[in-house]
Amino acid sequence: MSSIEIAPSILSADFARLHDQVATVVEAGATWVHIDVMDGVFVPPITMGPIVVSALREAFGDRVVLDCHLMIDRPERQVDAFAQAGADVITFHAEATAHSHRVVQAIREHGVKAGIAVCPGTPLGVFEEVEVDLALCMTVNPGWGGQPFIPTSPAKIERMRALVGPDVALEVDGGVDARTAPVVVQAGADKLVAGSAVFSKPDPAAAFREIEAAARG
Ligand code: DX5
Ligand code: ZN
Repeated sequence: MSSIEIAPSILSADFARLHDQVATVVEAGATWVHIDVMDGVFVPPITMGPIVVSALREAFGDRVVLDCHLMIDRPERQVDAFAQAGADVITFHAEATAHSHRVVQAIREHGVKAGIAVCPGTPLGVFEEVEVDLALCMTVNPGWGGQPFIPTSPAKIERMRALVGPDVALEVDGGVDARTAPVVVQAGADKLVAGSAVFSKPDPAAAFREIEAAARG
């Protein structure tokens, strides 16, 4: 398995101070930054797009892995824009396209890592058919930060790890904090997204370090 990384999700950051918020967690040791893209169709909220990715790429250079989670309908229409903006990982939802295999190919043609996400109610069959660089197990229903971790998730993470094998990144997203982090790592996750547990805390750097320590054991 590859290294355990905590990916702070900027969805819970103060957008008026986005650069400073990201700088705070990068200085605390974050090497991944998670960018939640919502289109108001696949999920109700509308958040951010490629211009935020390119702004962070410009500000932080190669110091961070820009981990883009597309909660958008028909992601095939946006692959080029996110790749050109400087995404390192583009993860789309299996439920949002009829063409998961082709979208993975399109992402990789840009030299970008390709991920597929599944909602809590979605079975894991796509990972039997499509080889990915990252498999994302949603541990809340996508659309909002600050929701509680779905307690049946660890068993699903275990099944996912068995399907994708030891070398694929297995990311979890939703309700990850210092309490749930060791549980998901034990189940087989190695990339842990944490939004509100980092940015909704008075000291995001300390919160990041606490989750990282809990995850790495
Ligand atoms: C939810 C997003 C998550 C969100 C997680 O749809 O995909 O990345 O930021 O937020 P927390 O960590 O607060 O559950
Ligand atoms: Zn996310």
